Amino acid sequence: MNNAHYKNNIGAVIRGLLNGLKHTPETIAPIIGVEQKVIEEIIGGKQELTADIEQKLISVAGLNQQDLYPAEFAGEFPIVDDTDLGVRIVRAAETKASERILSRGPANIPYYIYADTAMSNTSTFRPEWIKELFVHNGETADLPEWAFNKGHFEHQMTYFIGPVNFYWIDKSGVRHVTQMNTGDTNYISPFVPHTFTTREEDKGLILAVTYGGAIANPTFKAEIGVMPVEDFLKHTKEKLAQLPFAIDEKVVAGVAILKHENAQNGNLVQCDYQPDTRTREITFIQGAISESVSSDRWIYNVGSESITIEWGNGKSSEIQTDDSLFIKPNTTHALKGNEQAKLLVVDIKPGAGDPLIELKAIETYAGDAGLSRVHTETTRWY
Ligand SMILES: [Fe+2]
Repeated sequence: MNNAHYKNNIGAVIRGLLNGLKHTPETIAPIIGVEQKVIEEIIGGKQELTADIEQKLISVAGLNQQDLYPAEFAGEFPIVDDTDLGVRIVRAAETKASERILSRGPANIPYYIYADTAMSNTSTFRPEWIKELFVHNGETADLPEWAFNKGHFEHQMTYFIGPVNFYWIDKSGVRHVTQMNTGDTNYISPFVPHTFTTREEDKGLILAVTYGGAIANPTFKAEIGVMPVEDFLKHTKEKLAQLPFAIDEKVVAGVAILKHENAQNGNLVQCDYQPDTRTREITFIQGAISESVSSDRWIYNVGSESITIEWGNGKSSEIQTDDSLFIKPNTTHALKGNEQAKLLVVDIKPGAGDPLIELKAIETYAGDAGLSRVHTETTRWY
């Protein structure tokens, strides 16, 4: 272990990891008990990361010690399994307690409330609970520039609750907007800038799941990490030029939208080049559901009734409204509920798929700027 050294650009690495968890130095500081200024200086390369701060950082769910070291040391820092026989439950009260306001714009206008739901060290699955604070009619996309993020490295699936407007900016800079309602879903391709507002104060909420796709696969990252960004771009563009790619017609300007009324058998939005990602709304009209899937699974109780999950050898727990669950792959579990119960279930295989197909989608929907960001993500994007 003594030979292990941090990644070279450790400040940028930490910024990226915090980005993925929707934390800033300001929001993470009180949670881990480190001064905001110290975290900012580490990120800015003005201060060294110490063993003490390293320990504090890795106490955060979803942030692993091995993320701070070059890939060749990964074996020295095994991931600490934070599930209970494959299941991690986060209660509504815990989600509530993690609420943090994120402000935007020159006047620091409160824009979202973010909160954590179930996630695990064992996965790059990043589920979020985001309440929209900015009120807008959603008839046009005439929001101030600062309302938009810059798009992110992760793919995103979003489930809408209430009168929420969804806006995004395509590769040519053209803005789009769609008025969403409860049960509508979307898929957002990496690096496509987007934002959400509510049509009615205090009524808009989204449940969003972001995850690193094939381009987040450690093998792929290690492969491109040794290449200067210019070489990576040139090399990638040459390869992509030869790649036949059938554009998924459901993805328009980097986004797929499925209105709830068009969802069949509870199957929500899906995108062809992310075949392992499955989003469903499940009810119990046909009785209990007993499953073991090879994907990571996230469940959020979006209904008004509680359900029961059984797993392991005789383990069971009551899952109330707004409780959430993370379930590791191949964990046999049974879900039981009454006819009014309703769950949002998202299955994902982070890191799965073909990086080239994903790069082609990124080139198509986010251009060369998007491709460069695959190589080096250095800007705060939200
Ligand atoms: Fe997002």
